[in-house]
Amino acid sequence: MGKSRFDESLKIWMNGELVDWHKATIHVASHALHYGSAAFEGIRAYKTPRGTTIWALKAHIRRLFDSAKIYRMPIKWTPEQIEQACAEVCKVNGMDEAYVRPMIYRGYSSLGVHPRECPVDACVIPLRWGKYLGPEALEYGVDVLVSSWTRIAPNTLPALAKSIANYANSQLTVIDAQNFGFTEGIALDANGYVSEGSGENVFLVRDGKVVTPPLGASVLPGITRGCVLQLCKELNIPIYEQLVPREMLYIADEVFFSGTAAEITPIRSVDKVVIGAGKAGPITKQIQEAYFDLINARRNDSLGHHYWI
Ligand SMILES: Cc1ncc(COP(=O)(O)O)c(C=O)c1O
Repeated sequence: MGKSRFDESLKIWMNGELVDWHKATIHVASHALHYGSAAFEGIRAYKTPRGTTIWALKAHIRRLFDSAKIYRMPIKWTPEQIEQACAEVCKVNGMDEAYVRPMIYRGYSSLGVHPRECPVDACVIPLRWGKYLGPEALEYGVDVLVSSWTRIAPNTLPALAKSIANYANSQLTVIDAQNFGFTEGIALDANGYVSEGSGENVFLVRDGKVVTPPLGASVLPGITRGCVLQLCKELNIPIYEQLVPREMLYIADEVFFSGTAAEITPIRSVDKVVIGAGKAGPITKQIQEAYFDLINARRNDSLGHHYWI
């Protein structure tokens, strides 16, 4: 195997068993590899003063099962069993902080496009992951490009499913952005309205109001997006889910990303247009602080997202 950035001493949960990193392999004739028949989640376990919490674990596993339902993938395990598998990989690997990647995938049996003969297998991979968009992104913000690649359109691939197939589109977006020297790309939807980043939801602030594209704009129903919607309500910040024309990003006072990996990351420029003062704005900072307070159990967990292990 080539040089990797993984901690290969970690054990992986695979179809009900804990296996060594190098033994957690699948056959090259697996259906998922050929036709994108897999769905996954990205979850963070945080070390907090109250212990380790797998943040929003139940909401993530619910979305995994939603993805499976959309693609008619029968999962052999219950949501509780997959939750326990996530907790187990953290514990057995002695991790009090982790990025946990559960995945369900169509395995090995036939290469017909119809997946009916292929088993639905599952794994949970633990990773050691720092700040997704770079260590300084949370404070200073990132520069983003609106990509010339359009987000998956309705009736092509379902955006509410976190299917690996959607990430072919995400790859094009982020490759495009980084080729031009930006950190991340935002894709527009099939109607030309703002959709989302390659791995994040997008929010903007103008005149004290927060706006994010609705689910009908081909966005993933982000768990962090849900936290931001709830936090805005609790902080009495007006929040709207509405269509966002591209140029609204340019004239916004603040723009930020939300996501498990990116957390709450300010955006300081879009297409080289400087947003507001070109650094994290006051409402972004307020939401970012409330989000970390929530995770660190310094705020009431009104959505019931803590899962202490
Ligand atoms: C395309 C896309 N949009 C949005 C998000 C944010 O979702 P969440 O907050 O559930 O991590 C992600 C991350 O998983 C993503 O990949």
